[in-house]
Amino acid sequence: MIKGVIFDLDGVIVSTDNLHYKAWKKMADKENIEFNKQINNRLRGISRKASLEIILEKAKKDYTDVQKKELTDYKNTYYRQLLETLTKDDILPGITDILNTLQENNIKIAIGSSSKNAKKILKKIELYNQFAAITDGTNITQSKPHPEVFLIAAKKLDLLPINLAVVEDAKSGILAAKKAHMTAFATGNAKNSQEKDYDFEQLIDVVLQD
Ligand code: G6P
Ligand code: MG
Repeated sequence: MIKGVIFDLDGVIVSTDNLHYKAWKKMADKENIEFNKQINNRLRGISRKASLEIILEKAKKDYTDVQKKELTDYKNTYYRQLLETLTKDDILPGITDILNTLQENNIKIAIGSSSKNAKKILKKIELYNQFAAITDGTNITQSKPHPEVFLIAAKKLDLLPINLAVVEDAKSGILAAKKAHMTAFATGNAKNSQEKDYDFEQLIDVVLQD
């Protein structure tokens, strides 16, 4: 029986893909590193540090740890400026209704995101107070596909993994949900994942039928 749903944030509640792209692109251009939307797609659900390593696959020189930190800081400073433009109109279609329906049926809702900017984003889109628990990049030591982010959310919700569903747009997130023994609902790119249990469109039916 599903008693709670943990939502990934970027790409599920709000589309920040393009903002991440713009910010990484600015950094890559500065460093003369090839970067395109295809590479950006590989960064979904991946931590900031791990994302940089993927981008640096195309770099023509080696970077020290100090230089890498400067690059992620440079990207994040610009990304946070871009986040200032977010409003509640950026909540993805259908999400507000789904969150309300779940809560009306006493299903707990939480955020399980790899982003260290999750709380800022939730405040900008005016959803910060709606969730029973928020677990994000500031609470975890291992990023998806490690299940840590979802297991911490389960503890905060005081629910067992077997009673939880996860909604994800990244394959790494679907893998993390399955490793956590939760039911995985896929949206966006993650729909191609073989490990998903259902598509996001089935969420309300599956949860309320249960
Ligand atoms: C989400 C996004 C990733 C991003 C990660 C870290 O999982 O899908 O693309 O790299 O969060 O985000 P942050 O805001 O901490 O840089
Ligand atoms: Mg995502």
